[in-house]
Amino acid sequence: MHKINPNLRVIRDEVLDCKKCSLYKTRIYPVIGQGNHQASIVFVGEAPGFNENKTGRPFCGQAGKIFDELLQFAEMKREDIYITNILKCRPPGNRNPLQSEIDACTPYLIRQIKIIQPKIICCLGNFASRFVMELFGLSNQCDGISKIHGRVFDGNDGEQMVKIIPLYHPAVATYNQNMIEELKNDFRILKDYQEIK
Ligand code: URA
Ligand code: SF4
Repeated sequence: MHKINPNLRVIRDEVLDCKKCSLYKTRIYPVIGQGNHQASIVFVGEAPGFNENKTGRPFCGQAGKIFDELLQFAEMKREDIYITNILKCRPPGNRNPLQSEIDACTPYLIRQIKIIQPKIICCLGNFASRFVMELFGLSNQCDGISKIHGRVFDGNDGEQMVKIIPLYHPAVATYNQNMIEELKNDFRILKDYQEIK
């Protein structure tokens, strides 16, 4: 059993009751985060999808299957990492997050990052990459995910230094098989990077 961090429990309780944006109206369960409270790697996805909304667990549906394959490929286990999203509740029909929803919800993510203090943040897809890179002073290096995926950036918000690695969102491989190879390449970089450290 890994150690439970009471500060993360406080966030969980707040999110369970949260009504800070209209997504609470259509959620079944929010997805708060899952994994090791002392993880050195945190993965940040976009938002819960259909299955995650039904279970409250991150990446438990189609994209989750691909994500698990990629983790296995990189020789990482879910219990060693922490996984969360920029939005804790599902946007109806899996539409893109609205800026107002990102503004309302990301204070939770910021607190999660401050509590866990990971060495590496892997951002899955455009929305997560943009948000996390901006948070850590990398706005001027942020570009579309097809340009920046698999690169390692040095983030610094004045308090905390962290390596930021933008990755394609695993969902892209559910409708484009070639993307699996791209994703594997990125996870290979991640694997090698962890070994060098
Ligand atoms: N996609 C995400 O970005 N996050 C999840 O938890 C599931 C699917
Ligand atoms: Fe609250 Fe975030 Fe859910 Fe909106 S998405 S209701 S801000 S937890």
